[in-house]
Formats: sequence, C-alpha cells, structure tokens
Amino acid sequence: MNSPVATQYPTLTLNDERQLPQLGFGTYKIAEDDAPEAVRTALDVGYWLIDTAAVYENERGVGKGIGDWSDIFLQTKIWNESQGYDRTLKAADKCLDRLGRDHVDMLLIHWPCPDNGLFVETWKALIDLRDQGKAKSIGVSNFREEDLKRIVDETGVTPALNQVELHPSFQQRALRKVHDDMGIVTQSWSPLGQGEGLSNPAIKQIAEEVDQAASAVIIRWHIQHGLSTIPKASSREHIEANFKALDFELTPDQMAKIDALDSDDGRMGPEPGNFNS
Ligand SMILES: NC(=O)c1ccc[n+]([C@@H]2O[C@H](COP(=O)([O-])OP(=O)(O)OC[C@H]3O[C@@H](n4cnc5c(N)ncnc54)[C@H](OP(=O)(O)O)[C@@H]3O)[C@@H](O)[C@H]2O)c1
Repeated sequence: MNSPVATQYPTLTLNDERQLPQLGFGTYKIAEDDAPEAVRTALDVGYWLIDTAAVYENERGVGKGIGDWSDIFLQTKIWNESQGYDRTLKAADKCLDRLGRDHVDMLLIHWPCPDNGLFVETWKALIDLRDQGKAKSIGVSNFREEDLKRIVDETGVTPALNQVELHPSFQQRALRKVHDDMGIVTQSWSPLGQGEGLSNPAIKQIAEEVDQAASAVIIRWHIQHGLSTIPKASSREHIEANFKALDFELTPDQMAKIDALDSDDGRMGPEPGNFNS
C-alpha cells in the first residue's frame, strides 16, 4: 500500500543524502492497544513519518498499525538503560523484533545521560547498526552542543538529526544555529507545547486569519522554519487538523508574531544535562 501524497510531501535532505519528511506523527503516551488504530489513521490521512521509542512501550502496536504499508519513514529510540555498545546492539534488535521489521529509517539515542558516560559507546553501536543495514540513518535526541561535538570528535560521524524539545515558547535558537553549522537537521518534539501552545492568544488570532486549527498554525511555523516536527494526536479529527499544516502558508508577519513568543524559561521537559535516569 502506498501513501498518495508521498511525492508532494515536504522533505529535508539529511547529511547522509537521504530525505527526511518534515511532518511526522508522534506516539508518546499512545498505549500499545491504541497504537495500531492511531498509526493506521495517521498513515491513511497521509502522514509519512512515525516516531516511537522503546520507552513508549507501544512499538508492537506501532508495527501492527504500519502492517504492510510501504511508504513509511519509521523512527525509534534507544532508551537510557540500554546505553553502552553491546547493550545497544541487543536493544536495537529487540526494537526491530517488536516493530516486526528488519530495519528502521532512523534510529536515535533518546537522551545523552552525560553522567553515565556511555553515549560515545552507544553512538559507535549506532554507526555499526547503520553499516549492518538495521538503521538507514542514525541520529540523537536531547543532545547539547558539547555532546554533539564529543561524538563527532570521537567517531568522525555526524548525527543526521537531533530531536529536541522545541515549540513557540521554547525555540532553541542557539542550538538550531549549532545544528545548521554542523549539518544536523533539527526535529521538534512537543511541537505544540504538549497542547498548551494552542490557547495562546497570538496563535488563536493567526488561526482565525488563516481559517485553520491553532495546531496547524504552530505546525506550519515549524515547517516554514525548515524543521522536522512530530505532533502527537489521539483522534482522527486532531490528526486531520494537524495534517492541514501542509496546505497553507503563513506570511512573514505571522511568522514574526510566533517568533516573538520565545521564552528563556519555556522549557517543559527535563534539562538534558541533568537527566540521567
Ligand atoms: N525525544 C524525546 O525526548 C521526546 C520527548 C517528548 C516527546 N517526544 C515525541 O514528540 C511527540 C510530540 O510531543 P508530545 O506528545 O509531548 O506533545 P505535542 O505534540 O506538543 O502535543 C500533544 C498534545 O496536543 C494535543 N493536540 C494535538 N493535536 C491537537 C488538535 N488538533 N487540537 C487540540 N489538541 C491537539 C494532543 O491531544 P490529543 O492526544 O487529545 O489529540 C496532546 O494533548 C511525542 O509523541 C513523541 O513522539 C520525544
């Protein structure tokens, strides 16, 4: 089965020359039993990229939802307790087993966990998994500038992307500049600020102007900034509203109004330097 929109989907070119869909579907907090229907709905609506992780405990359900759908860009992540060279190789095989696939399109290290001192060895395992064809592309998540520079210095291999917390209230401008300089794509997690960004008056005003859902406005802002983004939604109604982000454009003035919502203390998730569990 093929997605009818794949050819017109906006993509970014990764540093390994592969194409990354800009819009994806996030599956954090979608239970294993609900994942097949949620993923099937997302694919049916036209989403191309699906993001999961070992720690979401829904990879079997995600794999079921994908079934034999062929136009798919699938991402998963190695959880913190599986860091280290040998443990990562085993953890990746378990992910593939749960997903029911012989490879993923993107394999990420979920958090650097700097105090554990294992992310360089973990990155070496990802490089070997890529060479074995078990991951077509490899990247990281929640890495800081120093963590990115360390793995590149030690292995000579630059991650294709860094998936980080990024939404209108926390725009990560400094890290985005580091990514641009290093040739790393930025992928935004919690792109809607876990839903909180939807009630912002500036966003609501723009949503009225463009006659779209507030969520689509925020997703469009990510896309026009050249980011990849993975909003999560539970219902078909939300999944469809968010996908409309591919159908319209924001003006420079509307983009600037959302740019102005940035805040130094807008972070909602853990600070990556202190998260080692
Ligand atoms: N790498 C990491 O460390 C990390 C961390 C967190 C998340 N992530 C990834 O990023 C994905 C997205 O982040 P997130 O799930 O934290 O938050 P998010 O995508 O920013 O927001 C999800 C929330 O927005 C609501 N929502 C979505 N579309 C809506 C619509 N059209 N109208 C009204 N409400 C809407 C959802 O409600 P409903 O569910 O009711 O639709 C949900 O409560 C995750 O699923 C996961 O794949 C990665």
